[in-house]
Amino acid sequence: MLKIAVCVSGGGTNLQALLDAVDSGVITDTKISVVISNNKNAYALERAAKAGIESLCISPKDFHNREEFNREFLRKLNTYQVDLVVLAGFLVVIPPEMISQYKNRIINIHPSLIPSFCGKGYYGLKVHEGVLNRGVKITGATVHFVDEGTDTGPIILQKEVLVKENDTPEILQRRVMEEAEWNLLPKAVELIAHNRIQVKDGKVVITEG
Ligand code: GAR
Repeated sequence: MLKIAVCVSGGGTNLQALLDAVDSGVITDTKISVVISNNKNAYALERAAKAGIESLCISPKDFHNREEFNREFLRKLNTYQVDLVVLAGFLVVIPPEMISQYKNRIINIHPSLIPSFCGKGYYGLKVHEGVLNRGVKITGATVHFVDEGTDTGPIILQKEVLVKENDTPEILQRRVMEEAEWNLLPKAVELIAHNRIQVKDGKVVITEG
């Protein structure tokens, strides 16, 4: 049984996709042990409550400095003894100690085809604004392992999505979620739950099921 923590900051539609995938059997042998939010008003927390999943709130704002926050965040996470941490729209920088302790055990969903429109400053709607401003015709989403950089870890899965002429950032965001994110993230978790993902020479290899 793969035990996971899901970290969220906002609406939590990707969390919902995971909850639904566990319920419907798209994801098997997996338990969502805890939902962690930095934002006590995140709607994602209501989704967790409705699903009967334990949740906790921890924000850098409530600590004197980043080191204290980082220590407490890691300590709290460790109490759940999870095998995998899923960043589902989590807008806080992951503590370096957490990245080394959970090497290749933290995954993130990013709403573009990495390495385009990623890195510092590219999150949420800003990604889709960047895509529309540049006029690219194809965007998408990426699930990747988290390393010390921003959106630089090994890529697990990607899916392309077409940009349309009258897209606004909001319309494009929704299409990327519907056509890519909500499928990719559960799929990645299912692969990890069945030990089908290995990292070799910094790249992901997916073994046959
Ligand atoms: C999603 O589009 C996710 O890919 C993005 O934030 C949104 C969260 O939505 N993540 C990033 O931009 C991370 N760099 P949700 O709360 O409805 O899942």
